[in-house]
Amino acid sequence: MLNRASVSPVLVSLLVPALMAFATPSLAFDEDAAKSLFKKNDCTKCHAPAKSKKGPSLKKIAEENKGKADVEAKLIKHMTTSPKVKLDDGTEEEHKIIDTKDKAELKNLVQWILAQ
Ligand code: HEC
Repeated sequence: MLNRASVSPVLVSLLVPALMAFATPSLAFDEDAAKSLFKKNDCTKCHAPAKSKKGPSLKKIAEENKGKADVEAKLIKHMTTSPKVKLDDGTEEEHKIIDTKDKAELKNLVQWILAQ
């Protein structure tokens, strides 16, 4: 016969992560990992979450890109190639290339940016 005391820890260990995953459906990304990658690459020199610096704010980037087809691929391309960009002072330079080729890390960063 199954005895409650021996079964429940197993059930709990299965159910708790499942419930936690349901409790935070909007957090489909790891915010800390995204932020630290963003800081480590000096992206913060030109981008802030809510206000424009030399580059557009993340909020603006999110607004402009949300809902577009292939937005993930497009933004990853932007961060991994170096397209010419215009800074807010009118000068042009090649956009910084992010120092990772890890698809999962890049996707995570894009999801975080789009959630701003
Ligand atoms: C020297 C300033 C500067 C730095 C550093 C910089 N960016 Fe940018 N970034 C810009 C500018 C300016 C634009 C706007 C480009 C445009 O709209 O033409 C931009 C645009 C973007 C976009 C939007 C692209 C699009 O198609 O809408 C993303 C995403 C982005 N940057 C991510 C990053 C990441 C990630 C880093 C760090 C690896 C970074 N940026 C570092 C200046 C910078």
